[in-house]
This record gives sequence, structure tokens and C-alpha cells, in this order.
Amino acid sequence: MRDFKNDDGHMIFGGMRAADIADKFGTPVYVTDENILRENYRRIYGVFSKHMPTRVHYACKANSSLAVLKILEQEGSHIDAVSIGEVLTCMKAGFPASRILYTGTCVSTPELKAVADLGVMINIDSVSELERLAKINPNIPISIRVTPGIGSGHSDKVVTGAKGSKFGIPIDLAMGTFRRAMELGLKVKGIHAHIGSGGKGIGPLIDAVAVLIDLTNQIRDELEIELEFINMGGGIGVPYRPNEPEEDLEELAATVTDMILNDTSVGILALEPGRYVVCDSTVLLTRCVDVKKSGVKNYVCVDAGFNTLIRPAFYDSYHHVAIANKFNKAGTGKYDVVGPICESGDFLAKDRALPAPEDGDIVAVYNCGAYSFAMSSTYNSRPRCREVLVKDGKAELIRGSETMDDLWRHQTIPERLLK
Ligand code: LLP
Repeated sequence: MRDFKNDDGHMIFGGMRAADIADKFGTPVYVTDENILRENYRRIYGVFSKHMPTRVHYACKANSSLAVLKILEQEGSHIDAVSIGEVLTCMKAGFPASRILYTGTCVSTPELKAVADLGVMINIDSVSELERLAKINPNIPISIRVTPGIGSGHSDKVVTGAKGSKFGIPIDLAMGTFRRAMELGLKVKGIHAHIGSGGKGIGPLIDAVAVLIDLTNQIRDELEIELEFINMGGGIGVPYRPNEPEEDLEELAATVTDMILNDTSVGILALEPGRYVVCDSTVLLTRCVDVKKSGVKNYVCVDAGFNTLIRPAFYDSYHHVAIANKFNKAGTGKYDVVGPICESGDFLAKDRALPAPEDGDIVAVYNCGAYSFAMSSTYNSRPRCREVLVKDGKAELIRGSETMDDLWRHQTIPERLLK
């Protein structure tokens, strides 16, 4: 977990006092440091590409804010998109179709056609999708997603590669599916697996690449298809807790590239990190609006709930919290940080040692670049919050707060009810 500088009791983020950013733009607000984002992308691209040609397909489901996408576009990233909406959003940020790979699941024919019409490469998730694409446009390049029978993730909800998963082609049907793709005249460029998200350790990722390598060689030997790339998906975990070690990226890159270079004739490694690229680039700043004691627990009531950040409530995820304007003070008591949503499951953090909180304090929630704004909602009729980009002491609004009009925009009350 990244630590931040303290300036006279103030947390410094992107060269600014976090509390000043909150005061200027209002809360809750997601604040992204452009330098960290670029650093993360460069690190992961560099670690793999020094061994072999690499395509980093940033998994934009983690954070599809246009400014974030534009920065990654400038860095030369490719994209993993999961919906036509993500494809269009990336194109709006300047990504050409040639740098996007579409990996849908439960893909409808209209969506498949819309993606194919844009000339985006499609990562096939089912046999039916393959058959349907062949009818729509057999000239669209494809890769095929297999379920390697290896799963990993920080929660059962995000494990995708295990046997029986809804994602991809089961391993025992993989050869038949590649054969069928050939019969249909489709242009198969690669093979893909994504085993899950945020799991501990690099072992399962390496094991999944070994499965892909075996299949790649079988495909070459039996079907004479020379694949251009092996795509190992995303899933690299990041530390969310203080003192938690980072995953050994160097070791992961050295091992998988060595396996691919030695055991196959494939020339390109693709990977799809989402969390790794964006997670620690962003903090959520939320204001303390009340401090309550229940007799059993102490509560810091803030203006962001699971409408703004759902990961703690949904996955029981740990996000580190600190009081940004009491950054040099030690914890004096244990507090739950809770939000304004009318459910007792609404919390951001539990049992944390914090310096005595007061109304108006700014609570910084760490590691909020991935699956945070992207998963926010308007539950309880609370408009989605702002986003700010900081770089070297300058802050710019990259998304304004939604308004009540935004919430009502597409609703109508039938005439007859108004009489
Ligand atoms: N590739 C595919 C096909 C994926 O489905 C995903 C994530 C990724 C890449 C990127 O995985 P990452 O590198 O970010 O672990 N909402 C959950 C995470 C869901 C991940 C879904 N798929 C969370 O908040 O933890």
C-alpha cells in the first residue's frame, strides 16, 4: 500500500493537501494522481516487455473515466473492454479499434454486431458466439477464451477460471472450438484465460499460462494454427493493507515470458491488468458529518456510503482509511466509518484506530482507483460524486457531480396519473 507524505498534520496527495482538494471541489470526491497512474502503467509494461513483445490491455472495467483512459492512451496502452459501452468510451478517449479487445460474456447478437461493425477484435466466450460472429462477419480477428480450471480471487464473487465457471470455453471443449473456428473461416489470432481478480500470489497465474501453452502447442500441431498471442488476462493483486507485500511482478514476468519463449513459437504476450494500473492512483475523500457512539461501537459518519464505494459492503474488502487533516496524530479509539445509506451493511471501514474524529474532518479512503467510482450508484437518490485529477500540485475537475435532474432525466410520470 502506498503511503503519503505528511505536511504539518496534512496528508499530501498529488502535491496538494488532501483537505484543500476536498474544500475546493466538495465531497465526496475521487482524486486521482496522474503521476502514479503513469508510473504504474510504465512499471507493468516495462517489466514484461523487457523479456518479449508485450501488449498491456488495460481492463477498463476497473475505471473508465475519460481522463484516465486518455492518459493510458497516451502511454500506448491497449484495452480490454467488456461491453459495447466500454468500447465506445475508449474510442471517445482516443483509442483506435485496433488497440481494443472485446471480451464479453453473455453476449447478445446486436452487441456482437455492433462491436464487429467497429472492427474491434473479439475474444470469444462461447461456441454460440463463435457461430453467430461467423454469420455477422467472419473477417473480424478473434481470440478464444478458455476456462483453464484454475481460479484465484480476493472473493468467490470474482473467481472466473475455475471449472464450471460461466466464463469461456471449458478446457476439454477448447480444441473442438478452435477446430470449429477454422471450419467457419474465422481468423484466430490468440488464446486467452482470465482466472479471477485480486488473488494472492503469482502461482495460479503461472499455472494458467502453462495450460494456455499446452493448448497453443496442441492447436499448432493438430490444426496447424500459429497463434500470434497468448493472453494471460488480468488479476494481479495489489496490497490494500499497510505492510502487506506487493506481488512479485518481476518473477511473474520472467517466468511466464520464459515459458512462452522456450515452449512456443508465439511472438506476443498479452495481459489485462485493471486493478494493478489504477488502484493506488486514487483516494476517495469524504467528509465527517457526524460522530456517534452506540454504547458498543463508535461511528464516524461520512458523506460517502456504499452508493459511492461498494467494495467493503459487497466483498468485505479492506480499504485503508486515515483522517487527512489529522495525518500526524495517532489513533486514540476504534471506529467504524459508515455512510448515509439506510442499510446496516453500509460501511467503508470497521474497527479502525483513528485520532478523535470531529465534524468537518476529511477521511481519506485509500486504493480507490479500481472498481470504485466504476461501481458507484445512485441508490437512495444520491447523485454520483465528482472526480478530480491532480498532477504536481494542480487539481482539475474531470467529472462533475451528478444533479437531481440527472436522476430524473429519463423518467416520466404517465399523463393519466397526473389528472
Ligand atoms: N480481464 C478480464 C477478462 C476480466 O474479467 C477482468 C476483471 C480483468 C481482466 C481485470 O482484472 P484485474 O487485473 O483488475 O484483477 N469488482 C471486483 C473485481 C472484478 C473483476 C472483473 N474482471 C472488485 O472490486 O474487486
